[in-house]
Amino acid sequence: MINKDQLLEALKPLQEPRYNKSIVELNLVRDILIKEESVSLSLIVAAEDETFKETAKTFIRETIEQLGAPQVHIRFRQMTDYERNQIEELHKPDAEASKQTKPVQPPIDQPILGEASKVQFIAVASGKGGVGKSTVTVNLAVALARQGKKVGIIDADIYGFSIPDMMGIEEQPKLVDNVIMPVERFDVKVISMGFFVQDNAPVIWRGPMLGKMLRNFFNEVNWGDVEYILLDLPPGTGDVALDVHQLIPQSKEVIVTTPHATAAFVAARAGAMAIQTNHEVLGIVENMSYYECKDCGSKDFIFGKGGGARLADDLHSELLAQIPLGAPDNHISEIDYSPSVYKQDSKTGQIYLDMAANIIAKLEK
Ligand SMILES: Nc1ncnc2c1ncn2[C@@H]1O[C@H](COP(=O)(O)OP(=O)(O)OP(=O)(O)O)[C@@H](O)[C@H]1O
Ligand SMILES: [Mg+2]
Repeated sequence: MINKDQLLEALKPLQEPRYNKSIVELNLVRDILIKEESVSLSLIVAAEDETFKETAKTFIRETIEQLGAPQVHIRFRQMTDYERNQIEELHKPDAEASKQTKPVQPPIDQPILGEASKVQFIAVASGKGGVGKSTVTVNLAVALARQGKKVGIIDADIYGFSIPDMMGIEEQPKLVDNVIMPVERFDVKVISMGFFVQDNAPVIWRGPMLGKMLRNFFNEVNWGDVEYILLDLPPGTGDVALDVHQLIPQSKEVIVTTPHATAAFVAARAGAMAIQTNHEVLGIVENMSYYECKDCGSKDFIFGKGGGARLADDLHSELLAQIPLGAPDNHISEIDYSPSVYKQDSKTGQIYLDMAANIIAKLEK
């Protein structure tokens, strides 16, 4: 099986017509996913140039097939204004002149924790592990992006990071002049400890290093003009959760629970922590609420009933959504395959869209 470096090396000869530089050098090849039987990738294009797209498609397909991959999936995505600015900072049209000088790194011009920052932070918390915090974080972020918002995720579960895997990210963040660029997938910018760990090794940092890592995610990452940042917290009310609360006093909170009374009881502790540290609880998400029979549509409340509503009552907050049991209907051969992101037009995808709209209305009123 080929690896990513070989793939990028092979794609180097393809020139992007607007900048007259290699697509690889311009970092236009994204979302690379290499499997035994297929290779998929996205190519960012500067303009809707059908001729270039056709040329690119043929070149990429033939090149990858020569490397031995039987199936190739290519998706095109239009360059965002932000990406265009970045590229134009680094690759001035006068290519010869700019070769002589050091490329200008866009500074972190909008520190997300700065006083002028208008970024809305939403921390996703739970009392217990395994109730679906990360699933909710990922899908709420994607739903906000589907509503046109500029969204980022900080995977603050330093030990138990799972966001890159759940979103199907195989890319690594790029370092540009010592500033980390988050990885983009489903139009969401992502940063996670998982990007900085080799071969899924366990993270063994403690205390001060942990806090430092978390701060780096805010201060050393170029988030650009992001509007919402979701934080996937580790389960429970431990040090990292407390650190996040202290680091971002303005963050709001979404609490995830299952419908079982015990889960809701434990989740109340996460709610209490938010309230004690003066963080507004935006609402409760009850996950794995019921199983809906595909044929007859009847709902089976496998894990009990009412936990979310009771928790919302206890915390004087709102039940934002009840999400049914069921994995996303995604197939590994799809170009934007991910294990955990529900499709926009699926029932669950729609529930997340409604929840995102509700949150936007609450925060932007
Ligand atoms: N509505 C759902 N239906 C079916 N499976 C789900 C649902 N929500 C989450 N899962 C699955 O349950 C498992 C736990 O979910 P997830 O990792 O999101 O929970 P978590 O609270 O972040 O866990 P941890 O505490 O370990 O971080 C995952 O395998 C996920 O795919
Ligand atoms: Mg998790």
